[in-house]
Amino acid sequence: MEHLFSPGTIGNMEMKNRIFRAATGDAHAIEGHYTDEDFRWYETVADSGVGAVITGLAYVADYPMRDGPGMLGIYDDSFIHEYRRLAEMMHEKDTRLIPQLVHCGSNMYQSKEQAIGPSAVENPMSGVTPVEMSEDEIERIKEAFIRAAVRAKEAGCDGVELHGAHGYLLHEFLSTYYNKRIDSYGGSLENRARLLLDICTGIRQETGEQFPILVKINCNDLVPGITNEDFLRTGELLQEAGASAIEVSGRWKNNQSWHPYFLSETKELAERLQIPVILTGGIRDPLELEQILTDTKIAFAGLCRPLIVEPGLLKRWQGGNTARSWCRNCSACLTTKLVCPYR
Ligand SMILES: Cc1cc2nc3c(=O)[nH]c(=O)nc-3n(C[C@H](O)[C@H](O)[C@H](O)COP(=O)(O)O)c2cc1C
Repeated sequence: MEHLFSPGTIGNMEMKNRIFRAATGDAHAIEGHYTDEDFRWYETVADSGVGAVITGLAYVADYPMRDGPGMLGIYDDSFIHEYRRLAEMMHEKDTRLIPQLVHCGSNMYQSKEQAIGPSAVENPMSGVTPVEMSEDEIERIKEAFIRAAVRAKEAGCDGVELHGAHGYLLHEFLSTYYNKRIDSYGGSLENRARLLLDICTGIRQETGEQFPILVKINCNDLVPGITNEDFLRTGELLQEAGASAIEVSGRWKNNQSWHPYFLSETKELAERLQIPVILTGGIRDPLELEQILTDTKIAFAGLCRPLIVEPGLLKRWQGGNTARSWCRNCSACLTTKLVCPYR
């Protein structure tokens, strides 16, 4: 598997192979802070042999409005030392560390009355109707994302990922379902993408030309509101705004396919962009993945549940046992704090 296990580069980040541990929230944090249990678990993740680890989603501001208990934070400087500890732990294993930055918007289940969003539209997943954000509030959140990225860089992390998928705030701005604004943040795709793009540009200005800024976006909307052309164009706009790579996601929880869920969309995006594109979701077969990396412009892959089911998966594949992952795509690991009940 000469492609899968060959080195790759994103911005100034060199990875020993093409595999990311896709963002995996473990719900162990206390007030956003990593616990000993988190550190122990991240050590096993670093040992798995992935090229880079994207952390579980970490809040950039308004922590009471998180989407569930135990969610990570990165909303003030008190977090710097723990990200530094985590980055050092990863670097010892030649693994890169990418914190994933998020604001949940209305995709949250705590402090519901405080939820904010692009417009006062009920979120069908959480049942929460947010308060429409003022332009001052948009500025505040933009600044919070930029400050969080600067913090991550100061802690020695190798880059950041903006969570623009799965119904969280940045995705809500992109979607015509959630975003009914008539100001410069609503209407055309350029307007709906403005917050995400401004955050990207702001991080680029603050962190320098080569600091990796990854962005996870949905190709396949959870609710109507983003067309395929919107998705592709968002990728192009992000590239112009200085993003270093795009990770493609979509509706993954109920998807029972044994093949990569978003292959055709990711392939199409990779053909349009010069920056690397990451395929995530439903990757179970290493030989199929190797073929994809050989035949298409897709440069990297993200794995989440297969590494929960079998932390030694990559070492097994690299050692020549290429039987596919036995992950059942059931997502029971979401409720069992990352121990697969079918292991
Ligand atoms: C336990 C668990 C936690 C997750 N946490 C996050 C998260 O914090 N941020 C995110 O973008 N995706 C999260 N995801 C989604 C994964 O990153 C990935 O997109 C999805 O699981 C599909 O990949 P897979 O088929 O390899 O599992 C999570 C998935 C699981 C199962």
